[in-house]
Amino acid sequence: MARAGAPRLLWAPWLVPAALATVYFQEEFLDGESWRNRWIPSTNDSNFGKFRLSSGKFYGDIQKDKGLQTTENAKFYAISSRFKPFSNKGKTLVIQYTVKHEQKMDCGGGYIKIFSSDLDQKNLNGKSQYYIMFGPDICGFDIKKVHVILFYKNQYHSNKKSIRCKVDGFTHLYTLTLRSDLTYEVKIDADIIESGNIEEDWNLGGLRKLEKSALKMPKKLDKLSQNDQSSDIPSQDWNKHFLDASANKPSEWNSELDGEWQPSVIQKPNYKDRLKSMKMDNLDYKDIWLHQKIENPGYLQEFELAEYENIGVIGLELWQVRSGTIFDNFLITDDENYAADFGQKTWGRTKDPEKEMDMIQAKEEIKKAREEEEQLIRESIKEKYLQTQHVKDEL
Ligand SMILES: *[C@@H]1O[C@H](CO)[C@@H](O)[C@H](O)[C@H]1NC(C)=O
Repeated sequence: MARAGAPRLLWAPWLVPAALATVYFQEEFLDGESWRNRWIPSTNDSNFGKFRLSSGKFYGDIQKDKGLQTTENAKFYAISSRFKPFSNKGKTLVIQYTVKHEQKMDCGGGYIKIFSSDLDQKNLNGKSQYYIMFGPDICGFDIKKVHVILFYKNQYHSNKKSIRCKVDGFTHLYTLTLRSDLTYEVKIDADIIESGNIEEDWNLGGLRKLEKSALKMPKKLDKLSQNDQSSDIPSQDWNKHFLDASANKPSEWNSELDGEWQPSVIQKPNYKDRLKSMKMDNLDYKDIWLHQKIENPGYLQEFELAEYENIGVIGLELWQVRSGTIFDNFLITDDENYAADFGQKTWGRTKDPEKEMDMIQAKEEIKKAREEEEQLIRESIKEKYLQTQHVKDEL
């Protein structure tokens, strides 16, 4: 894995220096079997399918096109790779990779997942909590879509605009861009296929507004906190999340690596139970601080829409009926131009030769089939001839 520090630095002093790209993760599988040191297969299920390094039956460049290929039919797959944790707060986040279903996909996932660095890689499975899921999913005639699923407020949210994926057997470049102004873009093969506003296209606006209005303590509760009565409280969203004031900072917490520590949040308690526990814990009502928090399996931090702390693992966790899919050219960066360049230098350079090789193979197959057919015809003519000779001899 290369960590490009300053890939596009301009030295010309008369130009305003271009912003430097930060590459969080880049993987092209160019160093033989060394990928096995970087990618950890999950052992959560001994029946998980195995990956191998392969450029497939046809390719544009036998070396460059090597990627992780699924090798066993009707299996679940789970493998992941770790990088230095980062937050995309206030930054652009670009997630990009190539995927090729050379087996002519009938039913199976071709997507990737992005996780918090808290993920236990050896235990990765379908229930492992992820931040982002992105990429194609195909099953029969019904499902041919690009998933863009964002984790927010303890739930997974799918994009409401449906995005069609590629279904042919060639390598395709998938790019997801999430920007801090809450716009996004989905590209396939460097073309913008979908774009818009994250709040709108994931139906998250409503959730967000509730959160904002909730920052003000509802009058009824304010009164309640003075009168200390526990009747007739409207069930409002604000009481679904509040800080666990009894939580202590974990001793292994590293503020430099993990960011500023915040206590976890107690989620969706029954209203009356909550009141009871609030009284019991002598919790100051006014300290209730509403904001997005997640249930805290590790030290997951609060985040705004599509803002994630501690992003640290990329993984493939999927099911395939017929295997043969190749994943390659993974990239996570904060720079859209860098991603576009990287896409052109990888997929951009090998896509046409890949098609040519496939065409040549197809032609050869047709030729071979024709030759076999001609051979059969020759043989049957010969046989008929011999039969007539035989008849003659008998006469
Ligand atoms: C697999 O993961 C599940 C859920 O995290 C867990 O309950 C189970 O014990 C794990 N199995 C193994 C063999 O580690």
